Amino acid sequence: MTVSDFAHAVTPWVRPRGQRARTVAYEIKRHGAGALPTLQPNVLFNTRVRTTSNSAPASLMSVLVTGGAGYIGSHMVHALVDSGESVVVLDNLSTGFKWAIPRGVALVIGETGDEALVSRLIAEREVSAIIHFAASIVVPDSVSDPLGYYRNNTVNSRALIECAVRGGVRQFIFSSTAAVYGNPAKVPVSEDDAVTPMSPYGSSKLMTEIMLRDAGVAHGIDYVILRYFNVAGADPKLRTGQSTKGATHLIKVAVETALGKRAKMDVFGTDYPTPDGTCIRDYIHVADLVRAHSDALTYLRAGGRSATLNCGYGHGFSVLEVIDTVKRISGVDFRVDRAGRRAGDPAQIVAQSDRARELLGWQPQFDDLATIVTHALAWERKLGTLQN
Ligand code: UFG
Repeated sequence: MTVSDFAHAVTPWVRPRGQRARTVAYEIKRHGAGALPTLQPNVLFNTRVRTTSNSAPASLMSVLVTGGAGYIGSHMVHALVDSGESVVVLDNLSTGFKWAIPRGVALVIGETGDEALVSRLIAEREVSAIIHFAASIVVPDSVSDPLGYYRNNTVNSRALIECAVRGGVRQFIFSSTAAVYGNPAKVPVSEDDAVTPMSPYGSSKLMTEIMLRDAGVAHGIDYVILRYFNVAGADPKLRTGQSTKGATHLIKVAVETALGKRAKMDVFGTDYPTPDGTCIRDYIHVADLVRAHSDALTYLRAGGRSATLNCGYGHGFSVLEVIDTVKRISGVDFRVDRAGRRAGDPAQIVAQSDRARELLGWQPQFDDLATIVTHALAWERKLGTLQN
């Protein structure tokens, strides 16, 4: 069975009255010598199976979301489904979860660097746009494992971009990062300011930006590069949220500590040149970040020119201010220790964010640290019930 055979077998249908939908997983194995590159090792479709009608399937024109089972990617998939898009997810499930993907969405388990798999997926699902989230994202880990970060974030992205070009994909939206700016000379930092990453993570993303720009010029693929600042919070409807075990991000760590999942937390560095000595970051609600992607897709589809845009609110909070907010919203005065600086941390990074607003018409709805923390706490409580 090929992907399209299968997709046709599950695409538009009417379920007879009384017949219950069920979720099943299918694995499509290598078929016949001389066949197109295989979709193995694992192709799972997390989809509702319904009884077929005889009508021809509608066009499969799809948006491919890499890393769609992860934290930000799964929010994106929910938003795309909400707006009626056909979505296919490619995820290796290294940090993502099948349950984070809405029912009815195809999940292909594999690597973005698997060119045979990706090319076939693009062809058979008629992928017209790619939103590329899949990446390793922990700054200190990139310092200890730079080659792993360059492989996963840079080498695999190169392969994905090549597949996109060969497969005639029209739009490409790339998750880049504020880490490309390193320790900026001024804040807020603008898209035109110097890019001088101070971690392999930032360098690995910057190299992908460069590849995408060059491929855009040479091959005509239209792109929006979104440089994320510090993403936090959860789906206001609590369908998904930050669920990775052993997470390192500040708001996640703080809400876990507030809920007793950790005995205490550390503040990494209290001697930075900031008003309270702790690092300052621009925390953006994940739902607003996802909205920037949706706006970017609409913009590109309407013929907008390729662009590189910051995604932040334009104001920052220190580590101590974030911790105080989590204590206030949760009502728990948890233990906080002062610790030394963490490798790769810039003192202060805040976005100049007017370009995304002007170009995409992006209008954030959750620009409020207390709201971000409230949603993060609500998700953390729900996660406790899901995982127990
Ligand atoms: N921090 C602590 N204690 C913790 C966790 C974090 O003090 O337990 C501090 C960090 O040292 C840093 C700040 O909180 O000063 C924010 O750290 P995060 O790990 O939450 O986020 P980073 O700023 O390191 O990185 C994040 C994303 C990157 C992105 C960057 C942009 O992971 O992808 O924000 O600023 F590039």
